Amino acid sequence: MNKKPNYTLPETGTSPEEILATMQAAKANDTDWKTGKTWTLQYFIDAEHNELLKAAYNLYFSENYINPFLFKSILKMEKEVVNMTANLLHGDEYTCGTMTSGGTESILLALYTYREWARKHRPSVKKPEIVAPNTIHPAFDKAAHYFGLILRKAAVQDNQEADVQAMERLITKNTILLAASAPSFAHGILDPISAIGKLAEKYGLQFHVDACVGGFMLPWVERLGKNLTEWDFRVSAVSSISCDLHKFGFAAKGASLVLYRNSEVFENQIYVNTEYSGGIFATATMFGTKPAGSVAAAWAGLLHLGEKGYLKNARDMMAAFEQLHTELMAIPEIQIIGNPCMNMLAFFTKNNRPDIYAVADFMEEKGWIVDRQQQPPSIHLTVFPYNIPVISDYLNDLNAAITWAKAHPKATGEGNAALYGIMARVPLRGMVRENVRNVFLEAYSIKSSEKALITEPVANPRWMGILNRLLSWLRIGN
Ligand SMILES: Cc1ncc(COP(=O)(O)O)c(C=O)c1O
Repeated sequence: MNKKPNYTLPETGTSPEEILATMQAAKANDTDWKTGKTWTLQYFIDAEHNELLKAAYNLYFSENYINPFLFKSILKMEKEVVNMTANLLHGDEYTCGTMTSGGTESILLALYTYREWARKHRPSVKKPEIVAPNTIHPAFDKAAHYFGLILRKAAVQDNQEADVQAMERLITKNTILLAASAPSFAHGILDPISAIGKLAEKYGLQFHVDACVGGFMLPWVERLGKNLTEWDFRVSAVSSISCDLHKFGFAAKGASLVLYRNSEVFENQIYVNTEYSGGIFATATMFGTKPAGSVAAAWAGLLHLGEKGYLKNARDMMAAFEQLHTELMAIPEIQIIGNPCMNMLAFFTKNNRPDIYAVADFMEEKGWIVDRQQQPPSIHLTVFPYNIPVISDYLNDLNAAITWAKAHPKATGEGNAALYGIMARVPLRGMVRENVRNVFLEAYSIKSSEKALITEPVANPRWMGILNRLLSWLRIGN
C-alpha cells in the first residue's frame, strides 16, 4: 500500500504569533534583495509606497472580483488604470483592455484573442502563425504551446534588435500577427517598432508590442530626453500592447495590462458560456475567482506616485544606470550588448576571455545574485532604486572577478560555470528540457525525511542541491 503524504493538517490550530514567527525565521534564509545585491525581479521603491500598496490591497482582501458588477468601486478603479495607462501609451478614446495577473497572462490573453479574432476575420487560416524576433519573451512560446499557434521566430541583428527583413521572410499566408519587444527583458533592447509596423501594414497584419517591462519606464525615459524610436500606440499599426503594473508601475504583484487599439480585437477576449447549469458565466480574463486587491493596489500606486513621482524615480534609476554603463564600458574585457534603451543591460566578456560564467561564480562568492544568460553567454543587470548605493561595490568586485578569472583559466570547468557553459552548448535541447522538467518535479516533491516548516524552517535553498544534481547529470551525459 502506498504511504500517506508526509504532512497532516495539525489537529489543533497554531497561534498567529507562532505562525508569523515561524514564517519570519524561514524567510530569513531567502535572498535578501534589499541589500542591493540582486539585480533582477524585485520592483520596489520605498517603504512608504509599499505600505500604501499593502493597505490598499488589504482593503479589498476578501472581495471576489470574478463578478465586476458586484464590486463597482473595483471596476471603476480598473477602468481608471486602463485609461491612465492608455493615455501614457498614446492611446485614444477607443483604447480598451483589462488588467491581468501579470505579463504572462497579458500575453497569453492577447494571443488567444488574436486566434479568436482570426477565426472570424481570417477563416481560411487553419493554423494561425505569429512572427516575432527570437528575443521575444518565452510567454509567447508558452501561449503558442497552450493555444495551438505557430510562433515563427526570426534571427535578430548582432545588436540584438529585431531584423525586419528576417521577420518578413517568415510571413506566410497563415500569419495573423507580428510581435516585438519594447524592450526585450534579456538585453533591454528596443525593437524597431515603427519599421515592424510598416511590415504589418504592408501585409495587413495585427501587431502586438510587448512592453511588459518597458511600458512604465520608457515614457519617462523619453521625457528625460532620450531619443527613442516610437514604440507605442503612436505607431498606427500597433494593435495591442502588454504592459506590467507590477514591474516599473511599482504595483503589488499580480498586476499587468493588456490594451487594444479598439474593441474589434478586444471583444474576442471576453469568454461567455450560456449553457452552464449555474447560469450565464462570463469572464474577461483567465481567472475565475479573482483577487480585487491587486487592482486596488495598482490604482493606489499610480495615484500615489503620479507623473512627478514616476519621473523622479526614473531619473534616479537612469542616472545610476548611465554611471554603471559608462564604467562597464571602461573595463577593457567587457562588452555591453547593443544599445540598451532603459535601465537594463546585458554584458559579456570579449571572446569570452575570461569566461563570463567563471566571472559570475566569483561574483556569487562575493554575495551578488547573478542573472546568467545564454545566447550569448552574458550577465543581465536591471538597475532598481535599491541597487543605486552599491554600484561602486559591484564594479570593484567585477574588476576583481575579471582579474581572478584571468589568473584561473581552469575555473571555466568548475562549479556553476561548468553547468551553465554546458547548458548553453548542449545541442540536444530535448534532453535539457526533460532534465529541467525533472528538476521541477523534484523541487515540488516532498521527501519523507522532510520536516514541516513549523518544526524546522528551511536552512538552505533546495534549488542549490537540485542544481548540483543537474550538474552531475550533465557531466555524465557529456
Ligand atoms: C518583456 C517581458 N515580457 C513578458 C514578461 C512576463 O511577465 P510576468 O513575469 O509578469 O508574467 C516579462 C517579465 O519579465 C518581460 O520582461
